[in-house]
Amino acid sequence: MKLADNKATLSFSNGKPSVELPVYQGSIGPDVIDIRKLYGQTGMFTYDPGFLSTASCQSAITYIDGDKGELLYRGYPIEQLATQCDYLDTCYLLLNGELPNDSQRNEFHGLVLKHTMVHEQMQFFLRGFRRDAHPMAVLTGLIGALSAFYHDSTDITNPKHREIAAIRLISKLPTLVAMAYKYGMGQPYMYPRNDLSYAGNFLRMMFGTPCEDYVVNPVIERAMDRIFILHADHEQNASTSTVRLCGSSGTNPFAAIAAGVACLWGPAHGGANEACLNMLEHLQANGGVAKVGEFMEQVKDKNSGVKLMGFGHRVYKNYDPRAKLMQETCNEVLAELGLEKDPLFALAKQVEKIALEDEYFVERKLYPNVDFYSGIVQRAIGIPVSLFTGVFALARTVGWIAQLNEMLADPEYKIGRPRQLFTGSPRRDIA
Ligand code: CMC
Repeated sequence: MKLADNKATLSFSNGKPSVELPVYQGSIGPDVIDIRKLYGQTGMFTYDPGFLSTASCQSAITYIDGDKGELLYRGYPIEQLATQCDYLDTCYLLLNGELPNDSQRNEFHGLVLKHTMVHEQMQFFLRGFRRDAHPMAVLTGLIGALSAFYHDSTDITNPKHREIAAIRLISKLPTLVAMAYKYGMGQPYMYPRNDLSYAGNFLRMMFGTPCEDYVVNPVIERAMDRIFILHADHEQNASTSTVRLCGSSGTNPFAAIAAGVACLWGPAHGGANEACLNMLEHLQANGGVAKVGEFMEQVKDKNSGVKLMGFGHRVYKNYDPRAKLMQETCNEVLAELGLEKDPLFALAKQVEKIALEDEYFVERKLYPNVDFYSGIVQRAIGIPVSLFTGVFALARTVGWIAQLNEMLADPEYKIGRPRQLFTGSPRRDIA
């Protein structure tokens, strides 16, 4: 870490001596005040629930400039990656720091596409779930269970094990997500086809049946690939921080990724795409475009408990760049499928238009996030709403792994152990 020219001085109004704290500079973005010695020097902790002002680690993977609406993976703008690279190139970049050259590309693509099959016993494990189980419940279990099937890559301290686990997770996630879907549908699982692209193979495992050949539509394949790229990493969000914290105890990579999946499920995080589509469908069933104004009044009323799902972001205080790309993909997919007049898309655009002009949203800098349009794209492709977050988990797995491996390789890494401001009863005795 690079020391900044200045230092921070923390002074106290009660006469306690002030303390000087080092300041570090990133390559871009805000400087950080190093408070690691604060407790030792003052006997005080800092208090920052929700990590509003806390950098939990140093990272060289993903950078977000929330005010500019900029997202960079290893320095490359998301717009360039989404239009000039595919998902597996993006995975290579996130894991290794550079885009692959031709031979690295062939080798990496080959490696991932040849490890797509899961242990045959996994399907018996899957059968233990009720057919109507939520796919995220199933996926949390299946991914955690990988550690029981692949003993030879569970030592998180061994770089070779970490590498094998990374390839296994990236390769097998599409298979597991498709298996969870097929199981719920009561259809036979489709074994992966390694001659297809990563996205094409996923589409075939989802929508193919053994009864007939499945032909991958290149427009849908590209859309799926873009959904994966846009969700691949997003610096220290809740699920990524969960993976880091979980992995910091030295647990195995499959367990750490399963923890990330569990966190992602929540509606304030990855579950927002599902919640957003449910919201739009509810709105459509209750008056559609004509009732958008009334609905927006409810959203603005704090007592209603209604939020505009797919809007707002902790970091983006300008447009989420992923939402723009997703809207573009939405147009392409709907045109390809002859769904240009999709009423939900029209409704979503109307909601966005009203929100972008409304003082409430403008003042709070609330803009559409990636999930606002991703649900409409996925629904048009035929992915059921309850599987949206599963698709997000599939795509984010590479980001979680890259972040986990970065943490483990950091010489300053320690088990994560936050402190607290205790507000309960002091010691007392049972009468
Ligand atoms: N609808 C209505 N009001 C909102 C919304 C919303 N979607 N989001 C934030 N606000 C209001 C909030 O009530 C608060 O108002 P006030 O200052 O008057 O109290 C203000 O805007 C600031 O919000 P906040 O809750 O302090 O912001 P946060 O950074 O803690 O929360 C968020 C960020 C994403 C959890 C929140 O915006 C939200 O719940 N959005 C809807 C869920 C969603 O779409 N999540 C997906 C995030 S992107 C995908 C991902 O990375 O997982």
